[in-house]
This record gives sequence, structure tokens and C-alpha cells, in this order.
Amino acid sequence: MSSLQVQLNRLTLANPILVASGTFGYAREMTAFIDFTALGGIIPKTVTPQPRAGNPPPRTVETTGGMLNSIGLDNDGFDQFMAEKLPYLRDLGTAVIVNVAAKTSDEFQRMADTLNAAEGVAAVELNISCPNVSGGVDFGTNPELAANVVKIFRAAGELPVIAKLTPNVTSVVPIAQAVEEAGADAVSLVNTFQGMAIDWKRRKPILGNVLGGLSGPAIKPLALRIVWQVAQACRVPIIGVGGIQSCDDVLEFLVAGASAVQIGTASFYNPGLAGQLASELAAVVVQENLQSISELTGTLQVSR
Ligand code: FUM
Repeated sequence: MSSLQVQLNRLTLANPILVASGTFGYAREMTAFIDFTALGGIIPKTVTPQPRAGNPPPRTVETTGGMLNSIGLDNDGFDQFMAEKLPYLRDLGTAVIVNVAAKTSDEFQRMADTLNAAEGVAAVELNISCPNVSGGVDFGTNPELAANVVKIFRAAGELPVIAKLTPNVTSVVPIAQAVEEAGADAVSLVNTFQGMAIDWKRRKPILGNVLGGLSGPAIKPLALRIVWQVAQACRVPIIGVGGIQSCDDVLEFLVAGASAVQIGTASFYNPGLAGQLASELAAVVVQENLQSISELTGTLQVSR
């Protein structure tokens, strides 16, 4: 077994570096920039049961230390994804984690049945946390509803299930506990923080949808805090996401309690970064004299 391999319950990853949904397209766009086999896995842009046109422009804006997006889950729909995108993705030599969102339990059920029967899907990530669509976070802000979505996927087959949770709640812990209890193999912590940008001279919001989700280095301390808090309260493996742009950032998330991480906004300005971080992690294993990178997970020492 490689020293970078990580186990998230039923999901095995070759290394802990994933690319986050919505920041890597459907991978085809990234071919010139990265060796996909260097990654622990790819999480393509969220797919929904029906095609979605997304939100009105502007959909993104740079902010201090980050960016706001309000894409509105623009995608060509689940059937098109299965027919045209998955066949390409599954031949890339890395784990493919399909990210899905829906508005009803029946819609989740149909996708769960189809994904469980599909070839080349390593896991599903449930996007129950998108801040930019009506109904997007309804499942993810209520522990019972969040747990029910996980149960639908657990009952549908053997596909590992990851719940991507929103930070836009008083505490993520009860929701993480509910999805853990429902059988989630892992939780991704966290989706974007709701925010806004204003052009004061025009007295207008900059984003067409007024509000958006903040990502990038500005949110790293917030995401780290949530990873640490959930790690104190739950045993479910955590995938940390939020502002990671260096190997030290990755290691901070691991020490806080994450078993793996997702590279998100940083891929927009350095599309090869995720692959580079995976090789830097291999060097850390040697320098720190570790048998496995997972020895670092949850090793934060707090004295109060
Ligand atoms: O608006 C969007 O498509 C963003 C999705 C998300 O943050 O989950």
C-alpha cells in the first residue's frame, strides 16, 4: 500500500488530493495543465436531474483574498452527464466522484439508482449545500433532511457516499452527526460562505443574483475551524476544503482532522496545483518519517 493512500470508510483514494466540484469543469478542460493520474480523484461540476441555465451574470467577482460565485448550478443535466461526460472521466486513471444536487427525494432516488449501476464511479458527493439556488441548501441545513438523502443513496447500493455540507448554519456539527448516523462514508467541509459584493457608486450589487458563495484563502481559517470542530464530535472521515493553496495548507487541514482535501479556487489561477501538491505530500512523508500520510490526521494538540 502506498504511503499516500487514504481510506475513507468504503472509499479508497490513491492520495488525499482531490479537486473540488465547480472548479475543474468536467476535467476535459484541464487536460493541457495536469496529469490526472497524479490526483486522488476528480469531483466534476454538480449535475442536477434536469439541465439548468444557471444564474444571471455577472456570476463571479474577485474579492480580497477570495472570490464570490453565483453560478446557479449551470449544467447540462444528469442524463447528458452519464451519456457524454462520465465515459471520458472514467478513463482518466483517477477516482471519479460524481457530485449531484436535486430538489426532491424522488430525484435523488433516480440518480442514486443510476449511479449505483454505472461503471467507473468511485463515489457520489451530495451537494446539499449550494447557497446559490432556491432550495439548494434546504436538505443541508436540516439534520433530518440531510440524513434522508444519505439514506436514499445507502439503500440504493454499494457506492460510497460523501455529504458536502454548508457552513451557513449556526453549527455544522449536528448536521455532520446526522449524516454520519445515516451512513455517510465521509463529509466534505465546507461549501462556500454566503456573501455579497457592492458597487457603491452605482448603488448596485455586483453579482447578478445579488448574493454568492465566498471561496479562496479568505475562508481557510473558517474552514479549518469547522473541520476541527466536526473532528472533535464525529468519527466520520472529513474531506477539508476551503482556501487551500499550498502543501502547508493541506497539512494544516490533515492535522485539524481531515483525511483528504479538495483544491478549489486555487485551480482557477494554477490548474496544475493539485498534482503538484500530491507530489509535495510524498516528500513530506519521507521528511517526517511517516509510514502513511494518514498518521497526521487529527494530530492537533490543544492545551487549554
Ligand atoms: O452556484 C453554483 O453553481 C455553486 C455551487 C456550489 O457552491 O455548490
